[in-house]
Amino acid sequence: MSVEEFRKGFGEDWQLSQFWYSAEFAARLAHLMAPIVSRSDVLVFISSPTAYVGFQHAYNRKQTYLLEYDRRFELIDAEEFVHYDLEEPLRVPEHLKGRVDFAVVDPPFLNEVTSRKVAETVKELLAPKGRVLLLTGRSIADAACGIYKEVADVELKETALKVEHAGGLANAFGAWASWPDAEKFGSEGT
Ligand SMILES: C[S@@+](CC[C@H](N)C(=O)[O-])C[C@H]1O[C@@H](n2cnc3c(N)ncnc32)[C@H](O)[C@@H]1O
Repeated sequence: MSVEEFRKGFGEDWQLSQFWYSAEFAARLAHLMAPIVSRSDVLVFISSPTAYVGFQHAYNRKQTYLLEYDRRFELIDAEEFVHYDLEEPLRVPEHLKGRVDFAVVDPPFLNEVTSRKVAETVKELLAPKGRVLLLTGRSIADAACGIYKEVADVELKETALKVEHAGGLANAFGAWASWPDAEKFGSEGT
């Protein structure tokens, strides 16, 4: 399924804080991630269905999962869909605990309580050298970076990636990541 098909099939539910990326951004993100993940890596997209669809449309990788609350997305790929509710942050499949090499995260609700719950999930999932890419609003970014460090021992740095939503968004967004040269991720020419 392409991101355009996804957007036609699945309208945004604002009660669930659903704001989809543009198809161009989802494709760009997939293109940037592909060279930095290895064939054996386990990937999860947490609360980021368009990013998942863009990535799998381009690369159709194994060991790539969508953790999402909205059960509509089970239709995309029932084997890769994991029902996830951040209100139960540690309720994740056993086979993913401590096994995730790369987590893309775009939580709903830009507040500290939500950030803390999702950070607990990330901690539960990450493999020892696992990496995190957090796409979120600038209004919560400083607090979220502190929370990820405290809860999951993940040090996030701002990347160069410019996040773009389909309909434009009033909230300014950015992307923070945990690997050594993450600042360059998404810079011009990459
Ligand atoms: C800000 S959107 C991120 C979507 C991203 N921009 C994309 O296009 O892929 C937040 C996501 O969190 C999901 N969500 C809402 N409530 C949730 C909950 N209780 N637990 C986990 N995810 C939830 C929404 O369904 C939505 O996909």
